Order: sequence, then structure tokens, then C-alpha cells
Amino acid sequence: MTNAISEHDSDASTGIETASQTTDGESVEEVDPEWTEYDFEGEAKFTVEDLNVWYGDDHALTDISMEIPENSVTALIGPSGCGKSTFLRCLNRMNDRITAARVEGSVRLDGDEVYDPNTNLVELRKRIGQVFQSPNPFPKSIRDNVAYGPRKHGDIEKGFLARLLGRDDADREAELVERCLRGAALWEEVSDRLDDNALGLSGGQQQRLCIARALAVDPDVILMDEPASALDPIATSKIEDLVEDLAQDYTVVIVTHNMQQAARISDQTAVFLTGGELVEYGDTDQIFENPRSQRVEDYITGKFG
Ligand SMILES: Nc1ncnc2c1ncn2[C@@H]1O[C@H](COP(=O)(O)OP(=O)(O)OP(=O)(O)O)[C@@H](O)[C@H]1O
Ligand SMILES: [Mg+2]
Repeated sequence: MTNAISEHDSDASTGIETASQTTDGESVEEVDPEWTEYDFEGEAKFTVEDLNVWYGDDHALTDISMEIPENSVTALIGPSGCGKSTFLRCLNRMNDRITAARVEGSVRLDGDEVYDPNTNLVELRKRIGQVFQSPNPFPKSIRDNVAYGPRKHGDIEKGFLARLLGRDDADREAELVERCLRGAALWEEVSDRLDDNALGLSGGQQQRLCIARALAVDPDVILMDEPASALDPIATSKIEDLVEDLAQDYTVVIVTHNMQQAARISDQTAVFLTGGELVEYGDTDQIFENPRSQRVEDYITGKFG
């Protein structure tokens, strides 16, 4: 990994400072801590302090501190390998599943320490839904996909035994399935075929189904890792509209490689660069129109990455 935060190189023969470049075309600059100070109104959903992640000896995230406001869309952007997915996985402790990963620092969700050894991971992941890059519906019916979480958590009882015990929640389930599919802007397209296999849906529909499945457990937060990168422009624009709507009720944190998408749908943008550093974080309009870091400007104008 290249070190992108060393001082400008000085040419000893001329005494003139020359801005050196890292191997991937990223110029060298010192990060000013003010670039990541973001004042917003309202409550912080996440408070991240001095977060560091290593995979073995590879330092993937370096001293990340930031607050993520609730009920808004936060975009994470930056070149490949700068730690965006790693950061997202820190928020719901999915990195726990990666043996090589070591996490230090603090992540608080509504003030509660996510990395407290007593944190109930099932509860945590119920509060924080996740949508991945490739749609991954279960090979089950559309209805079963949406109802999967609530059934697993015992919030919905259904089937022969439940009927026998007089606890069949079929009506409540039907209501939940409709509400979540509407929430994911998919209801109109699938209401007459809820018992069809989800794998028969288009990619964009499958991704919205995965969003409906995430909504079904009633989370506070939805994490999305490049949710539209495998989709065509029409499906992408449906997901984008949906993300903006979701921010009324949920805290959405979305990784995207698509600058226009970040600019269109997010309220604030965090730019990660080489070395797993958070270089700039702030209001999305400010980041795209008037970035303070030269490297961020170079990145968003397509000079590297
Ligand atoms: N499971 C893992 N084991 C070892 N190293 C990993 C693992 N996951 C990520 N890394 C390393 O950590 C660094 C950050 O990876 P990460 O996947 O978070 O980047 P990213 O910004 O999401 O990239 P991309 O845009 O390509 O998805 C990279 O150097 C990567 O090789
Ligand atoms: Mg990634």
C-alpha cells in the first residue's frame, strides 16, 4: 500500500517543492482534520471514533472518526480498495466474521457501543439491515423472501402448528409483505404473483425485493454496498428514487462508485482515499462543488481512481 500522506517532496538541487504522486496517480498532501469535521443539525445515528481495521498486517482503515446523522443518506465514495466496504461492515460488526480482520476504536449506535462484548449481535443486525452489490434473494417465493426475517425472529407465526394452536398470523403477514413491498417500490409489479419464485424477477426487481426483505425486520439503518452497480439505468434510477424516499424513515449509508449517483441521492458524502483514510466528509453539495482537498477534487473529477 502506498503512503499518501507524506510531505511534499523537496527537490534538493533547486529547493523547489514538487508535488509527488503515488503509483496510482494520487498526488500527495497532508490531510487537514477540519476537512472531516461536519456540523449537521439533528441527532447522530452513528458516532465513530478512532476506528482502525487491519487484515493481518494490511492497515485497511486508519483513524476514522465521523458522525452519521439519522434519517438521511450518507454516501461513501473512493477508489477501489480504500476501505469503503470494510467501513460499512464495521457498523454492524460483519467484520467479526472475517478471521483476519482486527478492529480497534469505537462505533456507537444511538449512543450504545457496538463493540461492547455484551452487544447482542442478532439484535444489532435486526436494527441494521444490509443490501449487497448483487441481489441475493433466497430461492423461495416473493412472499417467503419478505416474511423470512420476521418468521425467523418469531414475530410472525405461520404454518400447520401455528394454525393448530390458533396463532396463525397469515393476515398480519399479508399486511407486512404488502407494506414492505410498497416501501421498496415493488408492490405494483408483483402483487399478483407473490407465490412465484423470486429468482424469476429481473435483477432490479430482485434488488428491490432484497430491500423489502431488509425493511421487514423493522430496522433503523440500511447499509447498501453498491446496490445498483449490477443494474441497468432504469433499474438504477428506481433504486435511487427509493433510497431518497427511505431516508425519511431510515438512516441509509450507501457505498457507490458512481459520482453522479452520490451527488444525486446523498445528503452528505464521505471520501475515503488510499491508505484507508477518511480525507473529506461533509455536505454533498460542498464536497462536489467545492472540495477542500486537492486529492478529493482530483478523484471526483476523474483524474485518478
Ligand atoms: N476479507 C479480507 N481479507 C483480507 N484483506 C481484505 C479483506 N477484505 C478487504 N481486504 C483488504 O482491505 C482493503 C480495503 O478493502 P475494501 O473491500 O474495504 O475496499 P473497498 O473500498 O470496498 O473497495 P471496492 O471499491 O473495490 O469494493 C483492501 O486492501 C483489501 O484488499
Ligand atoms: Mg467494496
